[in-house]
Amino acid sequence: MQFFIDTANLDQIREAHALGVLDGVTTNPSLMAKEGISGEQNILNHYKAICDIVDDNVSAEVISTDYEGMIREGEKLAAIDDKIVVKVPMIKDGIKAIRYFTDKGIRTNCTLIFSAGQAIIAAKAGATFISPFIGRLDDISFDGIELIQQIVDIYDIQGFETQVLAASVRNSLHIVKCAEAGAHVVTCPLSAITGLLNHPLTDKGLAQFLADHAKANG
Ligand code: E4P
Repeated sequence: MQFFIDTANLDQIREAHALGVLDGVTTNPSLMAKEGISGEQNILNHYKAICDIVDDNVSAEVISTDYEGMIREGEKLAAIDDKIVVKVPMIKDGIKAIRYFTDKGIRTNCTLIFSAGQAIIAAKAGATFISPFIGRLDDISFDGIELIQQIVDIYDIQGFETQVLAASVRNSLHIVKCAEAGAHVVTCPLSAITGLLNHPLTDKGLAQFLADHAKANG
């Protein structure tokens, strides 16, 4: 399973990259706004700065919701760097745009996926990744992990090559459950990634080892 970090914060991206476990980055307009990035050129520059940190897979989302606008924006984003994956919303024009980008050899991430049906049509259009939002489903009392499992099963049965990129991940348990369900990628905040490191018995055990070593060695 690949690990992406879900942020536009350069320090957090650097920290995750330095851990040696990072395969990519996802952003969205809300995450870009949170970092105070606005204006077309600043946005393009920021994506370039992210590309300069990581090895591959930087999802950059289009703002347009019409086909022509998405093509225009997506081509501009893709021209920034080969690492860019154009993120397109799950709407009718988005599906047409994904087909266009796929035929042009531009990778895509179909975002705002909340059902297996949406996952099927995005795969038919040739999306490289689809992003089911598990946390937002959990928030309204639907089981986000169950959706990941369902989509992974359908893609396996049908032989779709589109990768399931579990998004809207809120904690480390989500990551473990996504791994169990067979998600190809998980994108999550830094806290969920570093949370995987923690166990109180590890801390207790290490403290004991160090104390015993100190006692024996003076
Ligand atoms: C990433 O691709 C998504 O945009 C993101 O994971 C959404 O997360 P949220 O539901 O926590 O905003």
